[in-house]
Amino acid sequence: LRHFLTIEGHKRETLTQILDTAENFVTVGNQPVKKVPLLRGKTIVNLFFESSTRTRTTFELAAKRLSADVLNVNISTSSTSKGESLLDMLHNLEAMHCDMFVVRHEQSGAAHFIAQHVVPHISIINAGDGRHAHPTQAMLDVFTIRKHKPDFTALRVAIVGDLMHSRVARSQIHALNTLGVPEIRAIGPCTLIPPYLEQMGVHVYHDVREGLKDVDVVIMLRLQRERMDGALLPSELEYFQTYGLTQEKLALAKPDAIVMHPGPINRGVEIESSVADGPQSVILEQVSNGIAVRMAVMSVVLGRKPSGEEGEA
Ligand code: CP
Repeated sequence: LRHFLTIEGHKRETLTQILDTAENFVTVGNQPVKKVPLLRGKTIVNLFFESSTRTRTTFELAAKRLSADVLNVNISTSSTSKGESLLDMLHNLEAMHCDMFVVRHEQSGAAHFIAQHVVPHISIINAGDGRHAHPTQAMLDVFTIRKHKPDFTALRVAIVGDLMHSRVARSQIHALNTLGVPEIRAIGPCTLIPPYLEQMGVHVYHDVREGLKDVDVVIMLRLQRERMDGALLPSELEYFQTYGLTQEKLALAKPDAIVMHPGPINRGVEIESSVADGPQSVILEQVSNGIAVRMAVMSVVLGRKPSGEEGEA
């Protein structure tokens, strides 16, 4: 496992190994460990070409808790603004003897492109590329699900909202399928449900009440307007009335269903505050778990532990 670019292509054993490794970083009380020396002497570079709150900061915390040195490159003040190409910037960072680039980019495929052009000792982790993939988000999501619902093979999971533009949903569906979840539902308007979902074994619902019936896990997504290219959308109020998660709609799911959201949340658009902050919400637990799961991904990749899946994925 040289890079971690997508969920696709990984076996169930590899995903389970990452989840089990993450468990080692969570102590009693669910707080990730303070510091372990696993990546002492390694240098990890955060390259975020697109904005982020949770992913960038939890990658930084995770790297520091593994005792790595961390560089956060500020892209807006870097010399790319003086005409330096992406590859020239990467080659300069290579010359500083870095070990890993954590990359977020608005273009789908950017992390793969970088992985193809870096020198062999550097590993790439995809921290979100366009609408393509967000594999560490999916890993922290399935880690959070497993904490509450340990048997993946007994679950009904609903993903609600803008799946069309969501790299998170694509990666979640691959992870849930790989881990053996028997029923994944996608709920949203026709315009926000991509046509390929049915080929991935996902059941599509346009009626949110029908789709939420008896599910164990509800994953809400925001409207990703930054990727919509001016497409016609309902107003936020109309969207909330139709698809927004309210206590009344959540009551259709199983009584012990958990509510998830990768963030950032838009209150009153895809979810009402009383649900986001309510007893079934695990939204902030997802954020905390992101530290342990990213520690696991980085240590597995730089430790080159799982074998047999070298290269691309
Ligand atoms: N979930 C997620 O990727 O959040 P950020 O954009 O804040 O990193």
